[in-house]
Amino acid sequence: MIQIAVLGYGTVGSGVVEVINRNQESINKKAGEEINIKYVLDLRDFPGDPVQEKIVHDYEVIANDPEIKIVVEVMGGTNPAYTFVKRALESGKSVCTSNKELVAKHGVELIQIAKEKNCNFLFEASCGGGIPIIRPLNSSLTADEIDEISGILNGTTNYILSKMTSDGSEFEDVLKNAQELGYAERNPAADVEGWDACRKIAILSSLAFGHHVDFEEIYTEGITKITSADIRYAKAFGATIKLLATSKRIGDKYYAMVCPVMINGDSPLFSVNDVFNAIVIHGNMLGDAMFYGSGAGKLPTASAVVADVVDAAKHLNRFIMTGWSSEKLEMIDISQVES
Ligand code: HSE
Repeated sequence: MIQIAVLGYGTVGSGVVEVINRNQESINKKAGEEINIKYVLDLRDFPGDPVQEKIVHDYEVIANDPEIKIVVEVMGGTNPAYTFVKRALESGKSVCTSNKELVAKHGVELIQIAKEKNCNFLFEASCGGGIPIIRPLNSSLTADEIDEISGILNGTTNYILSKMTSDGSEFEDVLKNAQELGYAERNPAADVEGWDACRKIAILSSLAFGHHVDFEEIYTEGITKITSADIRYAKAFGATIKLLATSKRIGDKYYAMVCPVMINGDSPLFSVNDVFNAIVIHGNMLGDAMFYGSGAGKLPTASAVVADVVDAAKHLNRFIMTGWSSEKLEMIDISQVES
């Protein structure tokens, strides 16, 4: 039996518990051993919920339990997530996380620790919710030189823009709706200001280009200034507005940006609506490959986290990530890019 601990019983944490409970038999078969949730760390209690018997309030219980082989970090934010994750990896426990802020900021260091300790730091759910994208970049796409990544990487803003387009809803009302549906970040400014998409394109670009992409150097503009008039103008041109995240290599130079753009009807991204995300990767041998699916939400995100748990369970004591170098990728300012 492989004992695991889940840090955080919010939207994604409760999803992780649900996915493991509902698909227990097939998950155990695929992992090769029974996966058992021994602890769930949360500051709150959940009387009446069967999870209550697993609730602990002190991380020390998990950190000091040698039976725990895998830690699932779904708390969000970097404090205390970074300290908890680093400590787990340093003691040889694998970590599976959905936390893009943590990966974008500390990914290089945490992957390196996992490598040294022969365990794993896996983060499939950090980009694109339930869409497999980290694993393909680490395996199926490694024969290619990737020269472009472009996509819709934030479910909340895509949901807002889709609703504003389809029924003329107002920004604030749809945002509230997206929060109720569990799509938005704890602080929804991260979604609507584009910061969430910025961290995700930084992670994908680091993996694809092999060097650390600093998210703070990515030009980022959100959707808060988009009005219903902008949406009407786009419609009049047969186009739609999407929050696009892009990174591109031009010769030996790279740039990345996140901003709202008009997408024409002939683009594959035109029909990516609601909470769906889509990512187009261009490789020098492969050409284009598009990855599409649920980009946010409890169960799709938890599905990606649990897939990482299965992988970590199959590879206890063997590091499997490709990762990227700590050497920073020099980015050019988008004002230097010819359109
Ligand atoms: N708030 C994020 C989004 C959650 O809307 O895409 C998934 O990363």
